[in-house]
Amino acid sequence: MKVLVIGNGGREHALAWKLAQSPKVQTVFVAPGNGGTAADPKLTNVGLTDYAAIADFAQAEKVAVTVVGPEGPLAGGIVDLFRARGLRVFGPTQAAAQLESSKAFAKAFMQRHHIPTAAFETFTDAKAAHAYVDAQGAPIVIKADGLAAGKGVVVAMSLPQAHEAIDWMLSDSDNKLGVQHNAGQARVVIEQFLEGEEASFIVMCDGKNVVSLATSQDHKRLLDDDQGPNTGGMGAYSPAPVVTPNVHAKVMHEIIHPTIAGMAKDGIVFTGFLYAGLMIDSSGQPRTVEFNCRMGDPETQPIMMRLKSDLFDVLMHATDGTLDKVELEWDRRVALGVVMAAAGYPLAPRKGDPITHLPADAPDAMVFHAGTAPGSTGPVTAGGRVLCVTALGDSVKLAQQRAYDVLRGIHFDGAQYRRDIGYRAIKR
Ligand code: AMP
Ligand code: GLY
Repeated sequence: MKVLVIGNGGREHALAWKLAQSPKVQTVFVAPGNGGTAADPKLTNVGLTDYAAIADFAQAEKVAVTVVGPEGPLAGGIVDLFRARGLRVFGPTQAAAQLESSKAFAKAFMQRHHIPTAAFETFTDAKAAHAYVDAQGAPIVIKADGLAAGKGVVVAMSLPQAHEAIDWMLSDSDNKLGVQHNAGQARVVIEQFLEGEEASFIVMCDGKNVVSLATSQDHKRLLDDDQGPNTGGMGAYSPAPVVTPNVHAKVMHEIIHPTIAGMAKDGIVFTGFLYAGLMIDSSGQPRTVEFNCRMGDPETQPIMMRLKSDLFDVLMHATDGTLDKVELEWDRRVALGVVMAAAGYPLAPRKGDPITHLPADAPDAMVFHAGTAPGSTGPVTAGGRVLCVTALGDSVKLAQQRAYDVLRGIHFDGAQYRRDIGYRAIKR
């Protein structure tokens, strides 16, 4: 069988790498892919980004199933397009993808269906937003409405910071943030600051049945100790011990099932990966910080390292509506991935630095590529997050040691990475 993965990040490299392990899969196409998927003899990059051209390609190649990695094409309606052509694809429709593409939609949805989340208000008028923040006080969280690659959120610890964020987001006439505004209008969601520990809770949904993936925890800030600006994610590990069996049951009961049922009630059947970004307080109560309608990046890298089931089979069930027949098998070890980012990330990542000393793949350590491109003498940096060095170990500490041992052998100029991925689990 031939399969197609859409996207070019570390998440897509990990999905493609996992799919290539299925004995039923002969070819994994990646559109457009990156320097890592280009170098892997089992993967084939397809230099297409136009949705209709990708669908033509899938049709011509008789691709058995397509899986969409990033939010952009999902919010752009690529699943609707594939389905209209009779092509098998795993992902949410454009309508369902609003859970991620519009914070305002997601917050109103959660309020309507009583799904635990932070209290909030939505504003288009800067004056009203400033007045609201003054009334609420700090800490408070300001979010741009619209896709912003993880950069449109400011957790303001003081009022001046909050006011500055509002001006930045609502009066950002040249759109430095690069937010894809909904309905062409800048909007902010201002919400209550939640305390606790975060976790990524990802499930697969076929429209009726839900299967949860292994839990994970991302590290969103650029610098050690959760300092510095928010990024797309600087590292992740799986499982996340904060999600105890009790918390897991609560999340399914109070968040995941009500979300799938609420969408259906609103006339939108949810298919695809549903990712609830959780804040879990000290009493074990989970609240939804955000929804994504796709796998996480970098969470996918450690999750795929641990998945023992055949991902191709799982995707076939997920697109047949038979996920109730699936019981996922996981490696009992911990997987931990550390992102190496380019100089200048997240604001202005530098491109074109040669990447050297990449190790060979090992059963317990993989270097997944993200922002890389093939260069004349080997891969070069081509984006913000460049690599995700991911390793398995019998404990978080051992997985961490192995990942950093591999990482320290790799070189590119200006590489930035955190030294403390997994620290919360180690502290426990
Ligand atoms: P989001 O894109 O909505 O996931 O926000 C990015 C990050 O900002 C989250 O992963 C949290 O670390 C932080 N954050 C977002 N909303 C809140 C909140 N209400 N309280 C505390 N931290 C938050
Ligand atoms: N790692 C966070 C995300 O994928 O949104």
